[in-house]
Amino acid sequence: MWETEAKDVGVKRARRILLPAIEYAGSSYAVVESVLGFVRDIVKAIYLAGIQLYTRLVCVEREIPSSIRLRARLDVVPRTPGRERHRLSLGKHSLIETYCVVCTWHGDVILEEGASVGIGSIVVGPVQIGENAACAQNCFISGQSHLYEDISKNFRRQGFQIAPVIIQKDAWIGSNCVILPGVKIGNNSVIGAGSVVVSNIPPYSVAVGNPAKVIKKYDFETEQWVRVRESATNAGF
Ligand SMILES: CC(C)(COP(=O)(O)OP(=O)(O)OC[C@H]1O[C@@H](n2cnc3c(N)ncnc32)[C@H](O)[C@@H]1OP(=O)(O)O)[C@@H](O)C(=O)NCCC(=O)NCCS
Repeated sequence: MWETEAKDVGVKRARRILLPAIEYAGSSYAVVESVLGFVRDIVKAIYLAGIQLYTRLVCVEREIPSSIRLRARLDVVPRTPGRERHRLSLGKHSLIETYCVVCTWHGDVILEEGASVGIGSIVVGPVQIGENAACAQNCFISGQSHLYEDISKNFRRQGFQIAPVIIQKDAWIGSNCVILPGVKIGNNSVIGAGSVVVSNIPPYSVAVGNPAKVIKKYDFETEQWVRVRESATNAGF
């Protein structure tokens, strides 16, 4: 009897001492982990800033004047050693705005004279943006996608679909648009805000929606934009 009571008291005492100690060790470990994570983030930030500097000074082909805002991120140097480096080329008066991400890991990104990419947009090459064509804010324009046919493998291990996006001269892409691989947008066309462009859009057309369909075409005889019939949309380009 006396022995059992003594044992209980011992267990209680041990618990009272051990549990806070374990808790303390756990929280100290969490603090160490956080500090290490923070240090790792700082080292990585310095490394990435170095790559951005190198990219801007050495890798970008650009005519002067042209602008790449400081807070744009340029993924031009391949992450995998031995991979081919593709071009990022900017013509005169072209512009890559703040918070844009431009990636050439899978193909060239070419901005011709006067072409611009708006704030927060993402451009994944191969993409060509013609003279004085403008992409507004937050667009996603990609000439690359993942293959996914083989269900026994994760999509990341199945390679890529690469098909260039071509935006011809004087086209205007509204904000928040998505332009998928292989799409060609004709010169002087307008893509409505928030549209998802999955197929070619002919020149001198206004296309809107998801998937984007042509709703207006420019009539050179009357010199006006005219509404088009449903059946005439996206035809023959
Ligand atoms: C595409 C756009 C230029 C068309 O302007 P518009 O010629 O005045 O078009 P309308 O107002 O005559 O609209 C025609 C039809 O298209 C529809 N429409 C217009 N823009 C649309 C869009 N972005 N998405 C879906 N439908 C749209 C209208 O609802 C209307 O449909 P309805 O006839 O069935 O009512 C304009 O709507 C747009 O999206 N501008 C982009 C703005 C932008 O992104 N600015 C960024 C600053 S650079």
